[in-house]
Amino acid sequence: MNNTKNIFYITTPIYYVNDKPHIGHAYTTILADVLSRFHRAQGNDVFFLTGVDEHGQKVQQAALKAGIKPKDHCDRMVVHFQKTWEKLEITNDFFIRTTDDYHKKAVQNVLRDLWNKGEIYEHEYGGFYCVGCERFYTTKELVDGKCPQHLKEPEYIKEKNYFFRMSKYQDWLVDYINRNPGFIQPESRRNEVLGFLKNKLEDLCISRPKSRLSWGIELPFDKDFVTYVWFDALLNYVTAIGYKQDDAKFNKWWPANYHLIGKDIVTTHCVYWPTMLKAAGIPMPKTIFAHGWWLVDETKMSKSLQNIVKPLDLIDKYGVDPVRYFLIRDMVLGQDANFTEEMFIRRYNSDLANDFGNLVSRISTLIRKNYDNLIPREDKPDEIDEEVRKNAESLPISVHKLINELRLYEAIETVIAFVRSINRYMEIQQPWKLVKQDKEKTGSVLYTAAEGLRIAAKLLEPVMPGKIADLLGAFPVHSDKLIWGNLKSGQPLGQLPILFPRVQTKKLEHKPKKADNKPSEKDINLVTIDDFAKIKLVTAKVMEAERVPDTAKLLKLQIDTGKEHRQIVAGIADHYEPEQMIGKTIVVVTNLQPVTIRGIKSNGMLLAAKKGKKLRLVTAMDDIEPGASVG
Ligand code: MSP
Repeated sequence: MNNTKNIFYITTPIYYVNDKPHIGHAYTTILADVLSRFHRAQGNDVFFLTGVDEHGQKVQQAALKAGIKPKDHCDRMVVHFQKTWEKLEITNDFFIRTTDDYHKKAVQNVLRDLWNKGEIYEHEYGGFYCVGCERFYTTKELVDGKCPQHLKEPEYIKEKNYFFRMSKYQDWLVDYINRNPGFIQPESRRNEVLGFLKNKLEDLCISRPKSRLSWGIELPFDKDFVTYVWFDALLNYVTAIGYKQDDAKFNKWWPANYHLIGKDIVTTHCVYWPTMLKAAGIPMPKTIFAHGWWLVDETKMSKSLQNIVKPLDLIDKYGVDPVRYFLIRDMVLGQDANFTEEMFIRRYNSDLANDFGNLVSRISTLIRKNYDNLIPREDKPDEIDEEVRKNAESLPISVHKLINELRLYEAIETVIAFVRSINRYMEIQQPWKLVKQDKEKTGSVLYTAAEGLRIAAKLLEPVMPGKIADLLGAFPVHSDKLIWGNLKSGQPLGQLPILFPRVQTKKLEHKPKKADNKPSEKDINLVTIDDFAKIKLVTAKVMEAERVPDTAKLLKLQIDTGKEHRQIVAGIADHYEPEQMIGKTIVVVTNLQPVTIRGIKSNGMLLAAKKGKKLRLVTAMDDIEPGASVG
């Protein structure tokens, strides 16, 4: 059993076919895809599994509503998932349907084994059942008598059923989680599970009488019952890779490196699943990772709230790659993230159209115009060029580390920050002017910028496979490795595609969040527009920057506020080098009383955002002159 270091098995939840896929489903699937592509690029042997969960009451009800048989309903719905994943360029190695024969047989095999081992018993039981969750709740778990997920009162049901002896594994599970800190991630979810396990664990009801629900896998030891949908669904992670049918295949892939899930299904994955595996004698997966929710207007997407963002609509409007980019860039893994089209467009315009797209077009225009479209030579690199090269060489190492820690949003930000630094480098070197005086030197600058761009693009390829492949296809290379110098001088640069045309934005309307106008508790500290107008905020350009001697944190900046040049002192030296500051458009308060800090006059204050140890300057996203008022 067990993985060699090159094996990478990753799974998504299998999605219910009672509805079409939305951004939430797409997110988990894209995340698994990005990780799979990344591991394949590293030379690892990858198995990426996704699929659909087709049994259970929800699906039966949806079929009933559509007036068709459950299997026909599944056959109809599964196409939406398969088509969406195809459009999103998802490279899953297998797509499981729980109505597939091999899966049903394997589930029955597991049930038979557990029954024979006495892990399953028959019992009369009464409990609160939530159809939405397809599970019984104990009274303690209900909030005001309602299911905490669906906020609906569950039905009280009493009937004979079959139970899995889950309770007997409680101590083992607590101990296992404690001894394996990487098993449940992030830590907040791990703590949540440990908290849940402080209460006595009940046995798990794993059957449904056919009289109530017929749509499921029949129990091999009682034909009047079907298997509880979660018991059937969780087993997909092993049946899809040949459990009880193809030992060689199963032993090659299991245990999974990652089960990616949303935070809504933590209990089933972190309590039911490990105890099921333990009872069946199967080793544990390495990591179960629960990400947060995509929210729309701060609420979870749901059909009943009619706030579903359908991935295909977005792709049709903006293209696949920007959608993938936004979802991965804007969710801090583990936390919830809010989705609005406005945020999407803002991210698209700033990172993709501006930072990335501008660099591509600058480089290609200059090479076409001045070097007959042939990649110039890196003849006369100076210190500044060398610095870009050094940064490009260390970039893959830091990005790979972040990806291995599942900090994908930071990995992307690191690459884009590097792209921004090349744009800055171009502004410092000014190849468009330099070419008139020194063509060789300009050649070095353009080689450096192009090779930096190639490496950055290569690192973004798992996230935006389509556009980046087009881009990289235009670069003549010795090999497409992440190694500096693989860009071939003297060879023609191919036709570069227009990657990310800017999206024009309309003025946005501000929707009031609440229907009534009563001030909430939060509103009590609100300021009026007149209070706010007292503070004069303007954009300013940093002309010069230097450290204040004998201090660790202070930078002295000379800024242009549009009307005048001023000097300010800012405590940002921990976070920004003086060179980085030059040319930045920042936001400053200009009507503050001047102060003297360490003997240096400071006439104004810049704005920065701070959280924990992280500090970032507040800057103007797109080009704007100094002196523009901010408000
Ligand atoms: N069928 C079960 C899972 C069985 S896995 C053995 C199920 N299906 S589901 O269709 O409801 O999809 C659940 C998963 O979709 C979540 O865990 C999450 O991965 C994803 N998302 C659904 N809505 C989401 C958001 N609003 N935001 C982010 N992801 C969410 O539960």
